[in-house]
Amino acid sequence: MTIMKIEENVLTLDGTAHVVESDRSIGSILVERGKLAETDTRRVVELQRAEGLRFGEAAIWLGLITEEDLNLALAKQFDFSQLPAGESTASAELVAAYAPFHRRVEELRALRMQLLIRWFNSTHQRKVLAIVSPSTGEGRTYLAANLAVVFAQLGERTLLIDADMRSPRQHKLFNVADRVGLSAVLCGRADYSAVVPVPGIAGLALLPAGAPPPNPQELLSRAPLVRLLQEMQNKFEVILIDTPPAKLYADAQSVTYHAGGAMVLARKNHTRVADTASVIRDLSDTGAQIVGTVFNVF
Ligand SMILES: Nc1ncnc2c1ncn2[C@@H]1O[C@H](COP(=O)(O)OP(=O)(O)OP(=O)(O)O)[C@@H](O)[C@H]1O
Ligand SMILES: [Mg+2]
Repeated sequence: MTIMKIEENVLTLDGTAHVVESDRSIGSILVERGKLAETDTRRVVELQRAEGLRFGEAAIWLGLITEEDLNLALAKQFDFSQLPAGESTASAELVAAYAPFHRRVEELRALRMQLLIRWFNSTHQRKVLAIVSPSTGEGRTYLAANLAVVFAQLGERTLLIDADMRSPRQHKLFNVADRVGLSAVLCGRADYSAVVPVPGIAGLALLPAGAPPPNPQELLSRAPLVRLLQEMQNKFEVILIDTPPAKLYADAQSVTYHAGGAMVLARKNHTRVADTASVIRDLSDTGAQIVGTVFNVF
């Protein structure tokens, strides 16, 4: 991935800014994240010493934190959860999960940093971002999935929503069942338990697209999507939404409108500049912000 100059909003991918938390203790991460009271840490340390436990185990044993709290703190401490190659059933396309030190993953981390600065910053309370591109096969699904992994690896509670109800693929990448998903939630046939944790990646959840509905665009324009996004923003810090090709369907426009922002993707030797410019215009017309444009080279 490199950068393309389209209008002014270009995301730089220089790979320099990388937050590493590995030198911090689990206790201080838990306290900082509001999961453990500072005054309780002494009790944890006492039990830890007496029983020869790890700090996190002792805190769980005392009922002060949950397993989930510990997993997230560990992800934050080590900066990544890694899937064991050959053992996990998830797709090899999840390069961020299988090979955290791959050059491409460094680029993804740099992109993550740009997005943390430009979009997911606490000042503006922006948590939802649509991943959009004009045509098929440009890398929206690949980028949304791998970005979701690197956000979770940073310890951000991350939700990936597959809003490509035309040609859904996220459930295949993560090898998660897609019988019940976004389509059922939007037409009121399923509740939010359709959002499932991704095995092996702490802090990451997926809402698969679910059974293909006859009317994706209508479903994406109605109140249930607004409610879903509102509710999910109470549970997650980062919500990424995969979309169908924006030139072919208006779905991406609806999603971007409700998300409030989009990152636009173009693929080298594939995406026409005029198409990208036209998609950016259409998305901007919804009043949403175009956070940046990423040039996908592969
Ligand atoms: N940066 C990349 N590096 C390596 N492979 C990539 C990259 N981006 C995309 N691909 C691969 O290209 C193919 C198409 O990507 P992807 O499915 O993400 O595109 P899409 O825009 O979501 O397409 P669709 O319109 O079918 O939804 C996939 O096999 C994916 O693994
Ligand atoms: Mg796709």
